Amino acid sequence: METIFSGIQPSGTPTIGNYIGAMQQFVALQEDYDCYFCVVDEHAITVPQDRLKLRQQTLSLAALYLAIGLDPKKATIFIQSEVSAHAEAAWIVQCNTTLGELERMTQFKDKSQKTGRTGVSAALLTYPPLMVADIVLYQTNLVPVGEDQKQHLELTRDFVMRFNRKYASESQPILTVPEVKIPKQGARIMSLQDPTKKMSKSDTNPKGYISMLDEPAVIRKKIRSAVTDSSGKIEYDVENKPGISNLLTIFSSFSGQTISELETRYQNSGYGAFKADLGEAIVSVMEPLQEKYHELLSSDELQDILDIGAEKANFVAAKTLRKMKNAVGLGRKPRKIKR
Ligand code: TYM
Repeated sequence: METIFSGIQPSGTPTIGNYIGAMQQFVALQEDYDCYFCVVDEHAITVPQDRLKLRQQTLSLAALYLAIGLDPKKATIFIQSEVSAHAEAAWIVQCNTTLGELERMTQFKDKSQKTGRTGVSAALLTYPPLMVADIVLYQTNLVPVGEDQKQHLELTRDFVMRFNRKYASESQPILTVPEVKIPKQGARIMSLQDPTKKMSKSDTNPKGYISMLDEPAVIRKKIRSAVTDSSGKIEYDVENKPGISNLLTIFSSFSGQTISELETRYQNSGYGAFKADLGEAIVSVMEPLQEKYHELLSSDELQDILDIGAEKANFVAAKTLRKMKNAVGLGRKPRKIKR
């Protein structure tokens, strides 16, 4: 069975962008792969976080993983900082990655341009190697993510090929080269207020995103006030009608209807009716999910699942970390224990 790894930062409550681009895929994939889904809290501290809020968001995200339908019998669900191999492997990755490669990452360029070099942590530059470590530790074959992570996946592939070339024989590679899996539709959900910008959980304007824990009334209201255009036609045209095209993509993901089916269905409708139905489509998925979430959040079940997840992840990750340390010559030579 092939292996899947993916992670989400607990830097806020996930948005429907995270849901459509990443989480929806997770649920479908757990049937056919050995899956690891991680709450990447070590990634979240690359920018300042309130410690209590971070803890709460970490547990909340784990509960959401289960509430969307991930089954702990099929998928390993765990918290990154509870598996110390991630930080250790990230160090080996950093030592085998050049500064040039990291400075080219568009996420680093964007964020450091906004705040200046002295306004960002060094970890904002070195965080892609932590992501590489996350992936390689599980000998991952496939990584389901949204489009914004594509460049980090290219970095991962380059790293693995270089590492194997340098430290392993061709017939016995140490690490698995992963493939990226980006959904055909919904890989980049845009902000409801500025459809030329990606929807983000850290947007300062909450009207720009729908959080997975927004109340039904809030969801409906945010959709009603989503930016569209003045033509009044429900047509998919990203260039000229980015707002309505984004809403069509969201509608399609929540309803299972294709974009062209939706265009036909709403060809004689105005934006008001379209938005009202879209609001209902989102609520009908999110409301039951939220109910399940609230039950899980304070349950022992969630704590048990995370304990078991951490145990399994630690076991698997330690095995790869041992190989990586051995490859670069860290520590003493492994020896057979005589008993
Ligand atoms: P993060 O937490 O920013 O996002 C989590 C996942 O959601 C996807 N995503 C989106 N998809 C569609 N439209 C959007 N507007 C949108 N916004 C976010 C992201 O592509 C991602 O799949 N570095 C990663 C987390 C990470 C990771 C990993 C992922 C750490 N280690 C290893 C995969 C494998 C991040 O910051 O994702």
